[in-house]
Amino acid sequence: MKRYTITAALPYTNGPLHIGHLSGVYIPADIYARYLRLCGKDVVFICGSDEHGVAISIKASKEKTTPQSIIDKYDRIIRKSFKSFGISFDNYSRTSRQIHYETASNFFKKLNSKNEFIEMTTDQLFDKTSNKFLADRFVIGTCPICSNKDSYGDQCEKCGSSLNAIDLINPKSTLSDESPVLKKTKHWYLPLNKYENFIRDWILDNHKNDWKVNVYGQVKSWIEDGLKPRAVTRDLDWGIPVPTKEGEGKVLYVWFDAPIGYISSTKEWARDNKKNWEDYWKNDKTELVHFIGKDNIVFHCIIFPSMLKAHGGYILPTNVPANEFLNLEGQKISTSKNWAVWIHKYLEDFPNKEDVMRYVLTANMPETKDSDFTWKDFQNKNNNELVAIYGNFVNRVIVLINKYYMGEIPTPGPYTNEDQEIINSIKDIRNKISLNIEKFRFRESNSEMINIARIGNKYLADNEPWKKIKNNPDRTETILFISIQIVSALAYISEPFLPFTSLKLKGILRVNKQIEWKEILNFNIIQSGHKINKESFLFEKIDDGEIRSQYYKLEKTKK
Ligand code: MF3
Ligand code: ZN
Repeated sequence: MKRYTITAALPYTNGPLHIGHLSGVYIPADIYARYLRLCGKDVVFICGSDEHGVAISIKASKEKTTPQSIIDKYDRIIRKSFKSFGISFDNYSRTSRQIHYETASNFFKKLNSKNEFIEMTTDQLFDKTSNKFLADRFVIGTCPICSNKDSYGDQCEKCGSSLNAIDLINPKSTLSDESPVLKKTKHWYLPLNKYENFIRDWILDNHKNDWKVNVYGQVKSWIEDGLKPRAVTRDLDWGIPVPTKEGEGKVLYVWFDAPIGYISSTKEWARDNKKNWEDYWKNDKTELVHFIGKDNIVFHCIIFPSMLKAHGGYILPTNVPANEFLNLEGQKISTSKNWAVWIHKYLEDFPNKEDVMRYVLTANMPETKDSDFTWKDFQNKNNNELVAIYGNFVNRVIVLINKYYMGEIPTPGPYTNEDQEIINSIKDIRNKISLNIEKFRFRESNSEMINIARIGNKYLADNEPWKKIKNNPDRTETILFISIQIVSALAYISEPFLPFTSLKLKGILRVNKQIEWKEILNFNIIQSGHKINKESFLFEKIDDGEIRSQYYKLEKTKK
C-alpha cells in the first residue's frame, strides 16, 4: 500500500486564521488527504502551531503580555478553527512541546557534529535603546533587490527575496524606531552554496514537468542568483536554545526549527498510535508532499531539503504544491488593517455553512495566480451552484422516491442506451476528479463534482419520471434507481470537498459503508429495497441582507 506524508505549513500563533490561509494551504491539503484515504492509501496528515520567531515576540510586546500567553491563546483559536472546518489532520502538534525541542535540538547537534555548519563572527544590527540584536521582523528597511521600503530583515514580501538583516538599506528597529549600530556576534550558518548542485539536479533537472510552474520558477531564479550561507541561529530570547556550549543565550532561527516540526508532529502521532515514524520520513517509497503558500517556497524547496540532505537518512518531498495568494474584494488581505474574513468569526455569522466556504474557496483557489474572494461571488456560488444544482438534484430524487415508493429504493428494469451513457459519464467524471486531484488541480476537480449533479438534473429533466409514473411505472422505477445511484455516488465523491454535506447526505440515504473511491458507482452503495430517510435541505439560499452586512463590516474597517 502506498504511503503518504502530507504536511500543511505550521501557522504562526500570532493571530487567528483567515480565508487566505484556508484556500492557500489547508483546504487543498485536506482535499488531497481525504481523497487519498478514500483510495485506501496509508496517509498521515501533519500540522501544528509554529510558536517561535519574532512575529510572536512582537505580538506579545504589542499586547503587553508574554510570548507564552500569546501562543496559548492563538493555538487554542487556530486549533478550533481547523476542527470546525473539518481539516482532517491526523496530528496537530505545537513547536513549544518537549518532543519538538528534543527533535530540533538533536537535529542541530547532528549537523554540528558532522561539521555541516560554518561558525562565523560578524557584524550584526544592534539596537542600543532596547539592548537587542535585530533580526528578521525586528528590523525594517529598504530591500536591496527591489527597493521596497518596508522589507523585513529576513524576507522582502514584495519581491519574495530572502535576505540577511545586514543587507537592508536604511535599517530601522521596529522595537525603538532607532537606526541600529553594528556589533559583533557569533552564529552558525548553513552553507547553502554547497547545495546548489543538489537542488539543481533534484528539482531543476527532474521536476520541470510535474511541479507547479510557480514553484519551479521560483526555485530556478534562486539557483540562478546563487545561494549564500544562511544563519540558522539568532540572538533572541524566544526560541529553542542553541544546544552547544558556545551557543548559550542564543536560539535556533525559527525557520530552522519550524519545518522540523513536521517531523516531531509525526513522531508524536506515531507514539500515540503505535506506528513507526521513520516509515513516514525515512522510507524512499513514501511520498512526502508539502502544502504551503508562495511565501514559503524557498524554505520548503531549498533550505529544509538542504537541512535534510545534510542530516542524511531522510526522504525529500516528491512535490511542493504551493499556491499563490487570495485577495479580498480586490485588495490584499491584511491582518493589521483587519482586511480579512476571519474563520472563527465567519461561523458566528454563517453557522453550519462550513462547506459553503470550503466550496467557494476551492472554486476560487489561487492555484496558478492570485485570486479574489468577494461576498457577492460567495452568495452566487451558494445560490446558483450549491442550492440550485447540487441541493436541487439531491432533493428532487429523495422527494420522488419518498413520494412514489415510501422511501424504498425500486427495482430497475433494463437500462436504455441513455441510462448506460449517463452511468459511464459519471464514471468518467470520477476518473477526471482523481486525475485532477493527483495533479493538485483542485478548482477543476471541484467543478467536476458539481457536474455530476448537473448531469443528474439533466437526466431527470430529459426523462421526466413524474410524467411516467401512471402509464409507464417500470420506466419510472429504472430512472429513479439510476438517479439514486448518482446521488449516492455524489455523497461519496463529495467527501473530500464537502465533508459535512457528504455526512449529512449519507444520513439521508442511511448508508455508512466504507467503500473505496474506485468502487463508487459499482452500484453497491444502495440496493433495491433499501429504505432511505425523508428529504432535508443540504443548502439554503443566502439573501442580499446577509451579504450586505458583510460589506458593511468591511467598510467599517476602512474608517
Ligand atoms: N509559520 C510559517 C508561516 O506562516 C510557516 C511555517 S511552515 C514550516 O509562514 F515548515 F516551517 F513549518
Ligand atoms: Zn524586495
